[in-house]
Amino acid sequence: MISITPSGEACGATVTGLDLSRPLGPEDAAAIRAAWLEHHVLAFPDQQMTDDDLERFTLAFGGFGEDPFIAPIPGRSHVIAVQRRANETSPLFAENWHSDWSFQVRPPAGTCLYGLTIPPVGGDTLFANQHAALDAMPARLRSRLEGRMAIHSAKRAYAPEGAYGARDKSDRSMDIRPSREADRTQLHPIIRKHPETGREGLFSCFGYIIGIEGMASEEATPLLQELYQWQGREEFQYRHKWRPNMLLMWDNRSVLHAATGGYAGHDRILHRTTIAAWDESRSA
Ligand code: SIN
Repeated sequence: MISITPSGEACGATVTGLDLSRPLGPEDAAAIRAAWLEHHVLAFPDQQMTDDDLERFTLAFGGFGEDPFIAPIPGRSHVIAVQRRANETSPLFAENWHSDWSFQVRPPAGTCLYGLTIPPVGGDTLFANQHAALDAMPARLRSRLEGRMAIHSAKRAYAPEGAYGARDKSDRSMDIRPSREADRTQLHPIIRKHPETGREGLFSCFGYIIGIEGMASEEATPLLQELYQWQGREEFQYRHKWRPNMLLMWDNRSVLHAATGGYAGHDRILHRTTIAAWDESRSA
C-alpha cells in the first residue's frame, strides 16, 4: 500500500509501497499527483527502473516537456543524462537556484530524475519552497514585485557566450548544445498562482530571469539579486540525499532547485525527463 512520509523540512516527502517498474493504476497516479501538489518534491526509493519505466511514469503526469540545449541520450528523444565523471573539472552543472526551462512559453510542470550512479558523499539536490518564500516575504520587498512581469531568457547559460557556451569547452561529460535560440525572451509574472492549486508563489529567479519589464536594469538587477537571496533562505529549503535507484519528481511551479558538489573522485549519473505544462482544459 502506498505510504507518504513528509521530510519534516520546508517541502519534500518519501513515497513507498509502489513498484514503478509496472504501470501505475489510476488510483496510485491520483495519490501521487495529490502528494506532489502538497509536498512539491517526492522521492521514491528502491525502484528498479529502465528508461522505458521512467518515460511511462513521466507520461502518467502529463506529456513530455521539451528539453532544449541538452542532447537526449542515444536511442531516446525525451531522456537526458545529468552526469559528471569522477575526474571532471568543468564547473558543476545547475549549481544555481533555478526552475527548469522557465524561459519557455509554457515551462514544464515538473521534472523527474532517476539516480543510476550515486556518489557515496555529496551530490545532494537542494529545493526551496516558493510558496513559503512568498508567504514569509517582508511587505517592503513584496510591494516592489507585486504585479511585475519578469523577463526570462536562457542566454546567460546556453547562448554561445553563456556559462555553458564556448568558454565551457573544457571536459564536460554532459552533451550541452549552446545556441543563439537562447537569446529569446519570455515574460512570466514574478508572483503567480500555481495553475493546479491556485496557491500564490514566486516563479523562477535571477539567472533565467534577466530583467523586469518596464524597470531599468540599474533598479531591476539589485532587486532580482535581493529576491534571489530571499528565495533560497535555509528556512525554505529541503536537502535531498540521493541513493542509487531512487526516483525524484519535483514541481517546477512551486520550488526552485540547485545541484551541489562535494563528490570529486566519484562518478554521478542520473536520467532526467520533464513533464509538460499543465493543460488547463483538464480538471484538477
Ligand atoms: C538539475 O537541475 O536537473 C540537476 C540537479 C542535480 O544534479 O542535482
